[in-house]
Amino acid sequence: MSILFFCQGDDGQVLQAFRQRLPDHDIIDWNSASALAAPEKITAAIVWMPPDDFFDKLVALQQVYAFSAGVDHLLQHPGLPEEVTIIRLQDAGMSQQMAEYALYGTLHYQRQMGMLRKAQQDAEWCRDVKVRATADTGVGVLGAGALGLQVATKIALNGYPVSSWSRSARPSPDGRVSMFHAEEGLSEFLAGSQVLVCLLPLTEATRGILNRQLFEQLPRGAFLINPGRGDHLNDTDLLTALDSGQLSGALLDVFSTEPLPATHPFWQHPDIIITPHVAAQSLTEESVGQIAANIEAIDRGETPSGVVSRQSGY
Ligand code: NAP
Ligand code: GLV
Repeated sequence: MSILFFCQGDDGQVLQAFRQRLPDHDIIDWNSASALAAPEKITAAIVWMPPDDFFDKLVALQQVYAFSAGVDHLLQHPGLPEEVTIIRLQDAGMSQQMAEYALYGTLHYQRQMGMLRKAQQDAEWCRDVKVRATADTGVGVLGAGALGLQVATKIALNGYPVSSWSRSARPSPDGRVSMFHAEEGLSEFLAGSQVLVCLLPLTEATRGILNRQLFEQLPRGAFLINPGRGDHLNDTDLLTALDSGQLSGALLDVFSTEPLPATHPFWQHPDIIITPHVAAQSLTEESVGQIAANIEAIDRGETPSGVVSRQSGY
């Protein structure tokens, strides 16, 4: 029984961590010459951005562990076998990073740092800053999953009124976050979101959700933070909303094409801040520990946590 490993960008550190954490398992490096010497023995794979032919010879594959929270790239992989179980990371140290990222964007909006930065470029002593009280700065988080709920709670602890929106009804953690769900809860949720954070998974239901129709339901001058996926956002609609003043700015971490092409208008836009898909990175110790615990659970005949529903796409 072997586990095939491919994580794009790994310099060997993550592979080594898996081998140390699971000394009784044969963990095969996809990049080694003998990787597919006995494909019939490979029952599991650990992946991030596997190449197109990765699954071709894996006739005995049963589980695929995503070295990521999102699985959209994996579900779209042309060779992914129909019957395998997909297991993803749940938080694994990412929610703290994500909360910091969202808080940074919230403060950027609340303290009008974009305007002050522009004034600095003109050496202008600009004291025309309107006070935005924390209590009047509503933050809405799209998605109340492993990351969204933690982000919402941590921002609420800073005194902001925070709402969260999910597919199904969920209880409020500690009563600090106002909960909304489904289509019928969306308009009210958006109306109170001066800052909107997208932490939805990319599925057929959420693709393009950050569009003109949604922006129009936000308070005028709202600020968008998107660390979800690039295909959640309609790029043209964002530019139009910024031009009209319906949105005052955006902090974007993910893009339809990554790396973001040098000619893309987002790069030069004065009201857009770009980060290169680094809002929350997979931490080796936490991620390896979570996947290893799931592998051991399956060895014992137990159910792993973080199993992805192919039907819902997350
Ligand atoms: P998760 O635990 O699966 O949570 C997903 C949440 O979205 C759930 O609350 C779910 O509702 C909700 N949802 C799904 N489809 C919906 C729909 N059609 N309408 C309304 N709500 C919907 O996911 P997660 O672990 O929090 O991760 C979220 C995403 O963050 C990932 O998929 C990935 O794209 C992104 N991410 C980005 C980075 C980065 O560095 N930029 C890092 C990690 C993750 P229910 O609660 O009702 O199921
Ligand atoms: C990163 O984007 C992830 O989904 O973990």
